[in-house]
Amino acid sequence: MRVGILGTGDVGRALGQGFAQLGHQVKMGSREANNEKAKAWAAETGPAASTGTFAEAAQFAEVAVLCTLWSGTDNALRLAGGQNLAGKVLIDATNPLVFAHGAPPALVLGQTDSGGEQVQRWAPKARVVKAFNTVGYAHMFKPQFPGGPPDMFICGNDAGAKTTVTDMLIAFGWNTIDLGGIEGARLLEPMCILWVLYGMRTNTWNHAFKLLRK
Ligand SMILES: NC(=O)c1ccc[n+]([C@@H]2O[C@H](COP(=O)([O-])OP(=O)(O)OC[C@H]3O[C@@H](n4cnc5c(N)ncnc54)[C@H](OP(=O)(O)O)[C@@H]3O)[C@@H](O)[C@H]2O)c1
Repeated sequence: MRVGILGTGDVGRALGQGFAQLGHQVKMGSREANNEKAKAWAAETGPAASTGTFAEAAQFAEVAVLCTLWSGTDNALRLAGGQNLAGKVLIDATNPLVFAHGAPPALVLGQTDSGGEQVQRWAPKARVVKAFNTVGYAHMFKPQFPGGPPDMFICGNDAGAKTTVTDMLIAFGWNTIDLGGIEGARLLEPMCILWVLYGMRTNTWNHAFKLLRK
């Protein structure tokens, strides 16, 4: 599969590495075709990896992964180009956060709207699936926890897109829980704050969510 990673931060690099290790072709996009972080990532990742602009990565992608700073996400999607994402699975790993020193980040929207819904509005022809936003980047690929594979909560409006993402998550080492339509992001995005708050209170960053059932 050809995967387009929209973003050069920790998340983009971790997910891009994961896809490449699973044998996919991965192009990492950013605002500049010659982004230094992207070039270093590609050199480290090997021949399956390449770099380009957001538009080139979106065009290349069969599946695209959105991992941009929230405040730049609208712009990144505009640069990626609506037509380049039309009909494609767009995994939304972003969280709509604002940061304050010493405090957990806060959501800039919620309750009656979410980043996931906003991303779907910004990229109306893409098949958006919210995923990866409830865990730190270090555990996104092949998470190793004593309690077994953690759960990745996902949501989105397109059943076929969610099947694609579920298969991909299994290969990444996750169990998946489908919460339904993209409005489920109203609950998944606060889970990011919960993940961070627990990390700040315990000064540990090795945790992930799992739903216990019987
Ligand atoms: N860090 C984590 O562990 C974690 C976990 C779950 C979810 N998330 C979410 O995942 C997303 C990515 O996080 P991150 O820490 O990997 O990276 P980040 O530093 O939040 O974002 C980096 C990316 O944002 C792009 N960007 C910044 N301003 C932009 C603008 N004005 N226009 C267009 N693009 C812009 C950058 O473009 P250039 O490449 O051109 O510089 C870069 O590709 C965030 O929404 C975050 O909340 C993070």
